[in-house]
Amino acid sequence: MNRKLRRLTLSAIAAATLGIPFASQMSAHADEPLKVGFLVKMPEQAWFINEQKAATALGQKEKFSVVNIGTPDGEKVLSAIDNLGAQGAQGFVICAPDVRLGPAIQARAKRYNMKFVTVDDQLVDSTGKPLPNVPHLGMSAFKIGNQVGTAISDEMKKRGWKPEEVGALRITDYELPTAKQRTDGATETLLANGFKKENIFDAPQKTTDDEGGFNAASPVLSQHPNIKKWVIYAINEETVLGAVRATEQLHIASADVIGVGINGAGEAFAEFQKKEQTGFYGTIAVSSTNHGKDSTQNLVDWIKNGKQPPADTQTTGKLMVRSNWQDVRKELGI
Ligand code: GLA
Repeated sequence: MNRKLRRLTLSAIAAATLGIPFASQMSAHADEPLKVGFLVKMPEQAWFINEQKAATALGQKEKFSVVNIGTPDGEKVLSAIDNLGAQGAQGFVICAPDVRLGPAIQARAKRYNMKFVTVDDQLVDSTGKPLPNVPHLGMSAFKIGNQVGTAISDEMKKRGWKPEEVGALRITDYELPTAKQRTDGATETLLANGFKKENIFDAPQKTTDDEGGFNAASPVLSQHPNIKKWVIYAINEETVLGAVRATEQLHIASADVIGVGINGAGEAFAEFQKKEQTGFYGTIAVSSTNHGKDSTQNLVDWIKNGKQPPADTQTTGKLMVRSNWQDVRKELGI
């Protein structure tokens, strides 16, 4: 047998052996109500807790069930899909821990004949381009970055800060396109408002949470003891909050720090409720409730009625600060 033919025969055998249990699984679940998964990379982060809650609430209203799973790494993602397949789920929403898992996730979903949509972080193919044919719902990242830049510039002006005396701590994650777009957008607006390019310092982060922000910020702040005033921006408010904690540890006064995040979830609310204002000035709030609800609705309509979801939905944000956080929260239904 030639090599090509042999490979073909082997994959046919594999398909046949694998096919039987899947087929029987599907029929065993055929008359159960619709079940879908909601997989998130950081199940402990307020943003993702809100999304999963909103998905579950929609399910209760529309009589389908949602299996919420935390998938902090690639192996967990694949085993979660296996798990959903075994339970007879017909699809899932996912914010993956690494967008380069795109092709692997697609292959695994196909194995169980499951539909899936992405939320927040858009998956990419092996060349780094967005994975085609996977509907996505996420922030209008660059524009929201622009809003961060505007909030920082306005507040600098209000405080009477001169550009030459201010440093920017730009916490980066260039492996995640939405993160790069957000910080690029903020940088663009800061520069347009007269910020000094040479005063922007990069602090690459390993994880997009408080700890990641703290660890990225500390060494960069220590390297520039001559800079007394700082502005801070990043992918999200958790990261900015971690960096603000790093400024506090170095005894930089809160009045000399302007940190602006993105998300508008639990951590920002807790910060706004502190007695004294910290270096965390504000955040561009986006509705995590709508992200969870709308992405799930798109998926369920697709499964039930064959209605193809929009290819790329981009959501908008609003500046939330100490004085308006409760109103913005209500307005966005967070
Ligand atoms: C990324 C970030 C989250 C949140 C979402 C919003 O996944 O890691 O904190 O900002 O985007 O889309």
